[in-house]
Amino acid sequence: MISVIDHIQTSRDRYLAELGQFLAIPSISALPAHAGDVRRCAEWLGEEMRRIGLENVALIETPGNPVVYADWLHAADAPTILFYGHYDVQPVDPVDLWESPPFDATVRDGEIYARGAADDKGQVFMHLKAIEAFLKQTARLPVNIKLIIEGEEEVGSAHLDDFVRAQKDRLAADVVVISDSAMFDRGVPSICYALRGLAYFQIDVRGTTSDLHSGVFGGAVANPAMVLAQMLAQMKDKGGRIRIPGFYDDVLPLSEEERKAWQALPFNEKKYRKDLGAPKLAGESEYSVLERVWARPTFEVNGLNSGFTGDGAKTVIPATAMAKVSMRLVPNQDPDRVAELFEAHVRKVAPKTVTVTVTRMHGGKPWITSYDNRFVQAAGRAIEQGFGKSPVFCREGGSIPVVSTFQEQLGVPAVLFGVGLPDENAHAPNERLDLENFHNGIVASAYLYDEIARAGR
Ligand code: BES
Ligand code: ZN
Repeated sequence: MISVIDHIQTSRDRYLAELGQFLAIPSISALPAHAGDVRRCAEWLGEEMRRIGLENVALIETPGNPVVYADWLHAADAPTILFYGHYDVQPVDPVDLWESPPFDATVRDGEIYARGAADDKGQVFMHLKAIEAFLKQTARLPVNIKLIIEGEEEVGSAHLDDFVRAQKDRLAADVVVISDSAMFDRGVPSICYALRGLAYFQIDVRGTTSDLHSGVFGGAVANPAMVLAQMLAQMKDKGGRIRIPGFYDDVLPLSEEERKAWQALPFNEKKYRKDLGAPKLAGESEYSVLERVWARPTFEVNGLNSGFTGDGAKTVIPATAMAKVSMRLVPNQDPDRVAELFEAHVRKVAPKTVTVTVTRMHGGKPWITSYDNRFVQAAGRAIEQGFGKSPVFCREGGSIPVVSTFQEQLGVPAVLFGVGLPDENAHAPNERLDLENFHNGIVASAYLYDEIARAGR
């Protein structure tokens, strides 16, 4: 173990240079124009896995982007880890807000700036470097490991559920390990035991066949922008409660124990508000901020489009209006059921003066697990060795759709050990990863394999 950790400590510069290559590939899954880059990224990753000594490396085709698979299965009698991550990244717009080019990794003030630095290439790479260190120094790993790194996470992992179902036997493991989330705060490492789910829609409203002169026709036809705004306004009340009938039926209430535990976390609401630049925080006042973002569902408008938005003024009644909306879901809400409730509610509030269509985009189930199992305990010890501090347990508001599929299909515990920071701009301009956390994360990953081996099968 000592030689492995020493090797990691002396390879820092090389790790950075290599991570830079991974980050240079613009594997944006949402944009068809980048399909070639996505594939090139999968190939790069496969090559890197082969190079560090992983075996059975394969790009497994799906109807969408390939899943990169690799394994190392020579630790007889030791547990098997199924490691999951993603090599796809979010779009970079608005690109002029980036202080350095998003695909030209740049180090400033101890952080590496690039799209995917935190979400999720940097965190995937951290595990590859821990594996590399073991294979280089000891020619073996203390555990068996299977890795699946997918290329469609940022667009809802549409083909991964089928993949996991079809490859259930090939993916059999004792524990799932994922590093695709954040630590609670700088200097506060954490293990995440619940994620929110997601249901995403596009709403299209059409009033007339063409845009109209607002003087000639104004007063006689509905205005789709106005109708859409009114419909959206009916989705939530002033207290932040969602008004879709039945929406809260399956929401798992927070236990007193959990509420108490969260109150003890080092969270400063004033600083949180200030850092966000918000004049005042919003939401359900009977819940704390952490409760709102971790354990309560939301309804959000992600984008709106209608009519004339250029410079100057144009007297027009737009023919159409469009909104992208999504709901974050909490255990035990089901995205399909929520979709039905939402569509029914839209039908109810849509006036007869327009035609309204709702299109289901992607979704994912929420996930929650208990954290009193030996693998989570093992991860706690590993994190303590990597970060010098034992982790806190928290939920997260984001979504990783496949985690609940792993739970359902493989029936094994998952350890979510993320080293991003909440303010590292995932999905936003100037995404970055703290290099100290990256390095401590490599050390912690190495200890994690060792500790999981000790935890036994
Ligand atoms: N890494 C995030 C998920 C995440 C973020 C987990 C913060 C925990 C804390 C992931 O890459 C992501 O952004 N997922 C999407 C999924 C969606 C497209 C189905 C999300 O949450 O919006
Ligand atoms: Zn991610």
